[in-house]
Amino acid sequence: MKYFSVILATAIIFSSCNNSETEKKETPATTTGKVAITEKPFGTFNGEAVTEYTLTNAAGMQVSILNYGGTVTKIITKDKEGKDGDVILGYDSLSGYLQKGNPYFGCLVGRYGNRIAKGHFTLNGTTYTLAQNNNGQSLHGGIKGYDKVMWKAAKQAGDSSLKLTYLSKDGEEGYPGNLDITVVYTLTADNGLKIDYTATTDKATPINLTNHCYFNLSAGKDSTILAHEMMLKADKFTEVDTVLIPTGKLPDVNGGPMDFRTPKAIGKDIAAVKGGYDHNWVINRQGNSLELIGSLYHPASGRYMEVFTTEPGVQFYSGNFLDGTLTNTKAGKKYVLHAGLCLETQHFPDGPNQPLFPNTILKPGETYRHTSVYKFSVK
Ligand code: GLA
Repeated sequence: MKYFSVILATAIIFSSCNNSETEKKETPATTTGKVAITEKPFGTFNGEAVTEYTLTNAAGMQVSILNYGGTVTKIITKDKEGKDGDVILGYDSLSGYLQKGNPYFGCLVGRYGNRIAKGHFTLNGTTYTLAQNNNGQSLHGGIKGYDKVMWKAAKQAGDSSLKLTYLSKDGEEGYPGNLDITVVYTLTADNGLKIDYTATTDKATPINLTNHCYFNLSAGKDSTILAHEMMLKADKFTEVDTVLIPTGKLPDVNGGPMDFRTPKAIGKDIAAVKGGYDHNWVINRQGNSLELIGSLYHPASGRYMEVFTTEPGVQFYSGNFLDGTLTNTKAGKKYVLHAGLCLETQHFPDGPNQPLFPNTILKPGETYRHTSVYKFSVK
């Protein structure tokens, strides 16, 4: 509700300036304090024009998003000296995003974020087989997940939101039901990137939508995120087997390497976690509304990011499969091991096969809703 009022207030204040004379004097949005959405061609995909939309708020923060994969390409925020920097990993061109092995930079993920064991689940007596694309498991929606499709984009009134829609057909990647999805990206006046997901279906289906931004708050200065300090409000995590499928056990973090209840440098205990962090934390929730669940701080730049969500879990992935081989990266940067980290707010992995995990089945007549916010400041 708080975010809603902020957005509404911003929309009212700035809509009055929208077609005034000042718009013609093309000074950069970062110095004028003008709320805007601009568009730039970003190549073509399967004959369709890809567009990069850039949202700017009055404080000068910018977020850029593609209609391909609903991909966030840039998040530009100020450091403690007021200098702008791009805090996510990505590429300079569409060919970067299209390369084989692009590890889901910035994109929307679905129909089911993270893994479904062996790509199988049974629903109302029918066993469904999904596209298997990760060690015999189904990962992030299969071979052609929502990160690899074109979304329809529409700028929203007030110039602070971009609405993306996608109709995922019955049978796509093996999932049942036509799923009608809307994702609204909003850049709030208080420097939050807010993502609202809604969906409806005509057959019962698993659903778990999320975003896969790789953050590095140093904005290109540090080659890894190991000096970032992270906090996660979670007493437990979902234990996984060797192919990263939950065992069903929820061990206590208990002061060990998985314990982020008080802020801790990511590099402190990472060596004690085989392969690095790639787990789902069980959030200590107060209720079902939007709550602060974690934070990330980069002491040298002063950049601080808070994460809010309505979801029960968060996948903290420390960029364990990055190995410096991706091409067309921003300014030719080498994205080495742990160059960025993801905080994927979500339902638990393999939810459809785990009766004790929170429900992930959406039925006809119901509406799936998920809101997450990544809010930036300095300290
Ligand atoms: C998620 C998974 C990881 C990995 C990345 C993408 O975070 O949990 O295992 O697949 O996505 O590379």
